[in-house]
Formats: sequence, C-alpha cells, structure tokens
Amino acid sequence: MSRIAYVNGRYRPHRGALVHVEDRGYQFADGVYEVCEVRGGRIVDERRHLARLTRSLAELRIELPMPLSALSIVLHETVRRNRVRDGIVYLQVTRGVARRDHAFPAPGTAPSVVVTARAHDNDRAEKMAADGIAVITLADNRWARPDIKSVSLLPNILAKQAAREAGAREAWFVDARGFITEGSSSNAWIVTADDEVMTRPVDNSILNGISRAVVLDAIAARGLRLTERPFTAAEAKAAREAFVTAASQIVQPVVRIDGKPVGDGRPGAFAMALRREFHRHAEFT
Ligand code: PDD
Repeated sequence: MSRIAYVNGRYRPHRGALVHVEDRGYQFADGVYEVCEVRGGRIVDERRHLARLTRSLAELRIELPMPLSALSIVLHETVRRNRVRDGIVYLQVTRGVARRDHAFPAPGTAPSVVVTARAHDNDRAEKMAADGIAVITLADNRWARPDIKSVSLLPNILAKQAAREAGAREAWFVDARGFITEGSSSNAWIVTADDEVMTRPVDNSILNGISRAVVLDAIAARGLRLTERPFTAAEAKAAREAFVTAASQIVQPVVRIDGKPVGDGRPGAFAMALRREFHRHAEFT
C-alpha cells in the first residue's frame, strides 16, 4: 500500500509530498513538531500533544496554522489513509515559506503543516523491550531551550549516531554539573537500590514528555516512591533499574550505561510493569 502525507492542505502520495525550497523549516529549522503513538488505529494522548504543540509554537511566536479541532481531523485522516493500526503520527509546523532572511517573514505568512504516519512492527518493539537497550552518556551541547519541541535537532542527531556507533540505542545528555538531562529522543529515569523512582523535574533543560506524564500517573497509581530530582551518570550506573520514555517506544528498559550493566543487566521489573500498564493511564482518541 502506498503511503500518503498531508502537506499544506492536501493529501499527497508520500513520494511526491514536497515542501518549498525556501520553507523556513528546511532553511533554518524554524519549526516545531510532535510525535504521537498510534495504537489500535487510535491516537494516544493527542490532547496533551496538541497542548504542547500550542506551547512550542507560542514560545517561538509561530501562528497556530489552524484550530486544534482541524489539526486533529488531519491527524486522524492521515492515520486512516495510511491504515496505521500501531505506529506513529508525525506533525510538523514551520514558520512557512519566505525569501531567505533570518528575521521573521511578513505577518500573515502562512505556517507550513506536514503530517505523516507510519506503522511499526509490534513484535520487534516487544523484543527490544524484552532485551532492553544500551545507552551512552555525553555532554549536553544543546541550546538552552530543549523544552521547546523544535525540529532543530542537530545535537540530538549527532548524539544518537554516536550511540549507534557505540552499539547503543540511546544517548543521555549530561549537563555542566554532571546531571543527566534527558535522552536524545526520550526522557531518562532510574530506580534506585531502595525502590525510589527518579526523573529530572521539568524545566527549560528537558522536553516535558507526554509519556513522562503518563508514567507519573502510573507510578502514583502503583503507589511507588517517586522523587523528581536530577541524578548523575554515577547514580544511574549504580541504580537497580533504568529506563526511558517516549511516544515512539513508551517505556523502554535500559540495561547498560556506558558499557556497564544496570542492576543484573536485564530489564527491570518496575520498567516492564510500567510498560504493561502504560496505556491504562493514556487517553485514546
Ligand atoms: N521524541 N525528550 C526528547 C529530546 C524527545 O525528543 C522526546 C520525544 C522526549 C519524550 O517526549 P514524549 O514522551 O512526549 O514523546 C523527550 C520523539 C518521540 C521523537 O523525536 O521522535
């Protein structure tokens, strides 16, 4: 089946889904995005993703391209046209097309909107969770606003590639004080030897993950002990469990950090339980 992409008001065959050479997303990475999980043909936590999109756009003073109700229809229609049961839907909004100039284009320049959807292989995802992933740590060299879900992702891309080249699936950024901020495309968590779940509090240094919020609800429902505070790479290496969260992979156990096994080197029981329970705490539309 051929894939379909939504581009500025039209549903196009994926192969011919093009944006203009002077789109500011292309030339300046002047745009924002969201990735929602699709499960059973429905979108997971769409409301919260659209709320975060609204915030990212407002922080960058990019206009909301259409009412959220219309965006929601486009998201669902793109999922439907691609017949995605389980996978992701990707939404990108840029400051639009204009003659190249760093400063904002003229008021009224229409933002560009692109939506794509693709299926993922559930068996493969489950196998990856059952095996757990390795992460590496490296210096956080991003700008001071990773809370904005900007398409400007060069440090994240280089970090992810460094992870791949080291045989790992994710890279954890470490701030100047030695604390983990987050992964290149996920939030970072540990469970300490005395059963305390830890993740960095939300501020400008990390993305306020929607999956993070869902996991916080799951933790509260389980009555687990949670502390929102920054932790160091050394604390993570001494932890009983570690895991990451993101819409594209829900809860993913981490079994090695910089080559050192976490706990017994196998996916942790808490992480696997949170993964199983995740969707009970998510919203479906
Ligand atoms: N990434 N931190 C970063 C830097 C991210 O890119 C992401 C998501 C997260 C987790 O956010 P959420 O739980 O809302 O997905 C944290 C998406 C999936 C991506 O770039 O593909």
